[in-house]
Amino acid sequence: MEIFRTPRIMKETSRRLLTRGRTIGFVPTMGALHDGHLYLVKRARSENDIVVASIFINPAQFGPNEDFVKYPRDFDSDMTKLETAGVDVLFYPEVSAVYPAGFSTYIEVRGLSEKLCGVVRPGHFMGVATVVCKFFQMVLPTRAYFGQKDFQQSRVIEQMVRDLNMSVDCLRCSTIRESDGVAMSSRNRYLAPAEREAARVIYRTLQAAARLVEGGMDVQSVKAQIMDMLSAEPLITDIQYAGIYDPETLDERVAAGRSNLLAAAVKIGSTRLIDNLVLEL
Ligand code: PAJ
Repeated sequence: MEIFRTPRIMKETSRRLLTRGRTIGFVPTMGALHDGHLYLVKRARSENDIVVASIFINPAQFGPNEDFVKYPRDFDSDMTKLETAGVDVLFYPEVSAVYPAGFSTYIEVRGLSEKLCGVVRPGHFMGVATVVCKFFQMVLPTRAYFGQKDFQQSRVIEQMVRDLNMSVDCLRCSTIRESDGVAMSSRNRYLAPAEREAARVIYRTLQAAARLVEGGMDVQSVKAQIMDMLSAEPLITDIQYAGIYDPETLDERVAAGRSNLLAAAVKIGSTRLIDNLVLEL
């Protein structure tokens, strides 16, 4: 596995590979890798000639009171995991290489960015869209892989790709979970044992809600049930949103549709956790 630290060498290498007719699969990450990330790498490995993964903790997507400074950093272990998973190139740029002095262009995906997580994290998806757009320019991927775990993020990026006529195929891959159902997340390591136990209620609630929708219960009543189940967990300190949404527009549903996004964002102590599932009827 090669490690590139500058946009210039990354882009030159990608250009050369594309000229030779190779396909490039790209997995952007912020490191602290777990099996969810590695699943994306595996998909990229099986569908492309060359696999590029990036590790970059993007300051532009963290709010002033968020965890940029304490975000877990574990480069040596990440490098071993990526190498073992068959990554060809690890792109690991410095913040100053991605955002040099005078940087002043941002990508704003209106509408989608302001809903769900966007309400409590203003500017977050602008930071995500900007860095992903920049990485697409540097890596020139044929395909890029994103996790359903961050459903809204994948929608925002798909919308950006469509609106800006980018020639990359974005693929959304299933959420990888721990054996008790908790979605894998780099932020799970912030949780104390009792909080980790409490985190199980999120996916359990979404699954229970999916069964109620399937059983024909109206979405307002299902939403009330979701709120009751989440509120019953004393370690949940804040329910930022929870309910049933249209997976295309991310608007809250008034009645179940053919495809339904059941999603929630809660705080357990000071840790913010999100999860979702898609229910096709
Ligand atoms: P990060 O949180 O490191 O996630 C990198 C990719 O892994 C994202 O596409 C995310 O959806 C996916 N992922 C995370 N947990 C997953 C799980 N349990 N199962 C499947 N996929 C999972 O998301 C980001 O980084 C950043 O916002 C980024 C896109 C890199 C831009 O900075």
